Amino acid sequence: MSDAAEIDLGPLHDYYEIEYAVEDFRAAILAGLSQPQKRILSKYFYDERGSRLFEQITQLPEYYPTRTETALLRAHAAEFAELIGPHASLVEFGSGSSTKVRILLDALEAPSGYVPIDISRDHLIESAKDLAEAYPDLMVVPIAADYTKPLKLPEIANELVRIGFFSGSTIGNFLYAEAVDFLRTAATELGTDNGLLIGVDLKKDEAILHAAYNDAAGITAQFNLNILRHINRELDADFDLDGFSHDARWRPEEGRVEMHLVSKHSQTVLVGGQVFEFAEGESIHTEDSHKYTVEEFHALAAEAGWRAFRHWTDADDLFSIHYLRVA
Ligand code: AVJ
Repeated sequence: MSDAAEIDLGPLHDYYEIEYAVEDFRAAILAGLSQPQKRILSKYFYDERGSRLFEQITQLPEYYPTRTETALLRAHAAEFAELIGPHASLVEFGSGSSTKVRILLDALEAPSGYVPIDISRDHLIESAKDLAEAYPDLMVVPIAADYTKPLKLPEIANELVRIGFFSGSTIGNFLYAEAVDFLRTAATELGTDNGLLIGVDLKKDEAILHAAYNDAAGITAQFNLNILRHINRELDADFDLDGFSHDARWRPEEGRVEMHLVSKHSQTVLVGGQVFEFAEGESIHTEDSHKYTVEEFHALAAEAGWRAFRHWTDADDLFSIHYLRVA
């Protein structure tokens, strides 16, 4: 972790970044496109445009997770605050625009600090500054980093407890074993006596899931295709965005919604000087979005060394929030 002295801290207490290496991005993309089932990891959706498209998705009528989770956070904020206690610091993995965390910060008694972690550097700094202005007594220490890799959390003065916040069911983007690894690493980073508040999308009727990932306005399709634009820009590739179509479907045997980009015709694409062939109908797998029953998620958390302390669901059983304690 390095201090990045060149940024104007403004209202921020401190700022860290783990340098982003374009070489790692290139290596990951080339490796993924070389597999029999071509693959691009979903964390690469979130360049600036991708982050903005995701914000639009969260407002879509079909995309129930954000509004359902937000309503759950509002409905139970006082209870979270009681469980967490005073002088807590919150560590948010994948903080995006830091919108939902405000519901928690407003409810907590004298929170000490907020550590938003996000891969989208400029968006992170702007969002963290806005938040620091709105909460002048809070120590705000953003970290620009890929939170899927282990990192050392900064010390926050006066903190009594350190609570992880992982919202939006982003845990669903990991494969089962990766999710266990991530939760285990988070437990180590947060330390004993601490907790994790995590949003997890529930298994449900296929029609609801299908609509959420195939919105009528086509924003999810744009979001999916944008990953190719991101690669074109950063890796000097020549993907033809009109040559691929959005595909999202529920895979019951895997317990997940998969997103793919399907080649409309046979074509070749140049990425970082390497040639990749696409047959008509061949796909690039771009995202997994796993859905869990409460019981399945409890089992996953337990495997990672967390104790399921309490959970909340909405009346329609669309979404769940879990409060986990280090076992
Ligand atoms: C917020 C990252 C979990 O999987 O539902 C939205 C991303 N992908 N529409 C999800 C997403 C397609 C989202 N996550």
